[in-house]
This record gives sequence, C-alpha cells and structure tokens, in this order.
Amino acid sequence: MPLQTRAWRSAWSLPADVTFLNHGSFGLVPFDVQAARETWQRRVYANPMNFYLREMEVALVQAAERLGHLIGAAARDLVFVDNATMAMNIVAQSIELAAGDEVLLTNHEYGAVRRIWQKRCDRSGAKLVICNLPQPLDATSALADHLFSAVSARTKLLVFSQISSPTAVILPAEEICRRARDAGVRVCVDGPHALGVVPLNLEQLGCDYYCASCHKWLCAPTGSGFLYVSRKLQIQLNPMMVSWGGSIAGRPPTWQDEYNWQGTRDPAACLAIPAAIDFFERIGWDTFRTRTHELAKFARESITALTGMEALVPDSPDSYGPMISLPLPTNGLSAPAQGQRDPLQDWLWSSCRIEVPITWWHGQRLIRVSCHLYNDEEDIEKLVKALDRVSLRD
Ligand SMILES: Cc1ncc(COP(=O)(O)O)c(C=O)c1O
Repeated sequence: MPLQTRAWRSAWSLPADVTFLNHGSFGLVPFDVQAARETWQRRVYANPMNFYLREMEVALVQAAERLGHLIGAAARDLVFVDNATMAMNIVAQSIELAAGDEVLLTNHEYGAVRRIWQKRCDRSGAKLVICNLPQPLDATSALADHLFSAVSARTKLLVFSQISSPTAVILPAEEICRRARDAGVRVCVDGPHALGVVPLNLEQLGCDYYCASCHKWLCAPTGSGFLYVSRKLQIQLNPMMVSWGGSIAGRPPTWQDEYNWQGTRDPAACLAIPAAIDFFERIGWDTFRTRTHELAKFARESITALTGMEALVPDSPDSYGPMISLPLPTNGLSAPAQGQRDPLQDWLWSSCRIEVPITWWHGQRLIRVSCHLYNDEEDIEKLVKALDRVSLRD
C-alpha cells in the first residue's frame, strides 16, 4: 500500500482485513470527527440545562455558518435534520398538491425518495411522473431537453439527484435548475452524493430546496443532514415534528426554530460537521476529488475489461466522481425481491470481506464502487480478482 494511502487509511477505524467500497451508502467517520462528536456529547452531558437553554442555538448557528461557507449558502437558509430522507419528507409535507397536479422525478432517483413522492401524490390525487433519461447519459443539453419535455402546465415540482444513487451519474444541476426557473417550476435537489464531491454554490444554483446527508462523502457523524430552503419558501415549510416552534434560548424568532428544537435530542452529530470540513481542508478538496475519481476510473477500466460491458456514463470527471456504477451480466438471475440481496454481494462479503453493493435497476444488474481516501488500487484489484473467480458471462 503506498505511504500516502496508508496515512489516509489510518485516519479511519476500518479493520485491516475489510475492503470497504460502499462509502456511497454508509460513510466511514474519521477518528478526529468521532472525537469531535464525543466532545460535544460530553459538553451536553456535563450540564444539559446550560447546553440546551444557552449554548445549543449559538453552536448550531456556528456549525451552519461553516457548512454554509462550504456550500455557498447563508446559515439563515439552512436547517439541520437527521438525514436527507428527513429533509425530503419535510419538503413533501410542505408542498401543496391538488388532484391532477404533477411531481416530476427522473428514473435515476433513490428508491426511498421515489416512494416518498409516490405516497405524497397518492394522498392528494396528484400524479407522479417519471422521466426516463436517455442512455448513454452524455450530452447535457439533450438530457435537459428530454427532462423538460416531461414538464407540463400541471408540474408543481421537479425532484432530481445531483449525483444519482443507482447509476452514480452527475446530472447537470445548474442547467436543470436554470431551466426549471425559466419554466416556473419549483425544484428540489437531492444532494447527498454531491456534498463534498463537487464544488457547491447553492445560492448560484438557485434551487428551491436542497436535501443532503453530511454522513456520506463529507464523513460527518451519522445523523447529520441538512435542508436548504430558498427564502421565499421558508415561511411555507412544515416541520415533521411539532414542538414549541420558538427559540428555546429566547432569541428572536426565525423559521429555523421549528427544526432546532424538536423535543430534547442529541445535536452532537450536526455540531461535529465543522470537524469533518476541517478534516478535508487538511487534506485538500482537490486532492480528495482527484484521487478518488482516479480510483473510480481505475475500477471502471478494470471491471469493464473483465465483463466486456460498457459503462453507463462517458469517461469524464464531469460525468462521475468517486463512485461508478457498472453493468454486470445477469447470469440468468432476475432482480431480488424487496429486502433480498443479490447473492454475489453476499458472497463478496462472506468469502472475500469485500463490501460493495450490487443492485438492480431497470433490469440491469449494477455493481457500484465507491472510492474514498482510505481505498487504493489494491482494493480494486482485490474486487476484480474476486469477480473473476465467479462466472460473469451471460
Ligand atoms: C440519492 C440519495 N438520496 C437520498 C438518500 C438517503 O440518505 P439518508 O439515508 O442519509 O437519509 C440516499 C442514500 O443513499 C441517496 O443515495
């Protein structure tokens, strides 16, 4: 293992015999960030009354300022939530929908997000419209043209992932948001895979809502998500959980009060977000982005050479970042039932100690390889060697 990779890997508590290639689902938290969370917890436990009544709101504002600086948003436009799922549920709960209205999603959306909107539409008699994006996903404008051909006079909201979950493709967020504004359609960006991976400026992006989890690529502790809401819509937002609805510290009221206090709970994960940002700043954002894309590219080359099957996206850092989804032969199998896993995913873990998701999307069997700084070429070679041991031919 190269010296530099060894140094990076030692920042995490990953066991030496585990090859972890699924940061995209479950981000590992570096020791320093774990320690920051524990420090905040100790501060809460030392005197909870002092912490909740006097210190917590100030600390949340400071954490939001630091996060806001990274993502090009003012702290006053952000609220902390547990995760992107909660953020998306808040948006779904807040949007007014009537019978006949439409909510537009792409066919690359995360399954739970699709379900949130299916249930929300079912409740109001609205229609969930799924736009199947063209494949291969290369020309930005053609892709946006295709997506906007599915917008109608009844479209109330467009929801899309800046980087998709099943296919790991970077969608042209700036262009989509600009065209949504031109079309007068509200837009909600699902951003957990984009946070840290691509430079963000939410004010320039001009979306209405942005949902993300800091516990993925940003390596913050589990339970640290945020929701960005454009100013004109903040007043219309509905919390999932109703509590006091005012500042617990007696500060002037803001729309964020509903989210800052949702009953007594542990805010330490969100307060440790600045420690996660510090971690990346010590390494350098460019180093992180370049190195992890390089590894994903190596995975792409090695796995496509093995299977002889083409990747879903062009070979460019504009199309994929540190995560790549590649087709595998189906070997005569079909998609496992809900809650069941592809047998190859289980075998890779039980026989080779490799964690990597194998999912089924539109009848295609996909292996999604996530690369972080604790990974190196040896991890990819180990995966390819393991895949080579099983029959991968249709
Ligand atoms: C695109 C996308 N959106 C939303 C989520 C939900 O994130 P969380 O489980 O942190 O709420 C995920 C999780 O993998 C995702 O990939």
